Amino acid sequence: MPNGVLTSPNITADIETGIGKMGREDFIKRFKGYDPAAYNAPKLGRKDMPTIMPWTMYAGMESKDLTAIYTYLHSLPAKKNVVVKWKPLQ
Ligand code: HEM
Repeated sequence: MPNGVLTSPNITADIETGIGKMGREDFIKRFKGYDPAAYNAPKLGRKDMPTIMPWTMYAGMESKDLTAIYTYLHSLPAKKNVVVKWKPLQ
């Protein structure tokens, strides 16, 4: 990104380094929270993390589809892999 390095996070079910602590309801809420009808994108400062994850588009997914994605992710082996999501440029 113009202001830093953005890396896609570990979305395996690892508790410490992945999304293992995020329950099914939290997973669905996280996506639905970006519904463009209600979501106001925050104003970002120069060092803030922008995202390329298409959250507002994915917010339109139905809960049953998000549940299917969640179930799929949890069917895969959990991988311990620390990812630094955001490194702003100095
Ligand atoms: C169905 C497909 C996808 C799923 C299920 C998914 C899932 C997720 C989840 C659950 C997070 C939050 C992780 C956390 O809080 O630690 C996340 C973050 C992220 N995703 Fe995705 N993702 C998908 C597609 C994509 C795509 C297409 C891109 C980029 C082209 C992307 C880039 C990112 C990035 C950069 C982040 C970290 C920044 C942020 O939290 O917004 N993802 N993704």
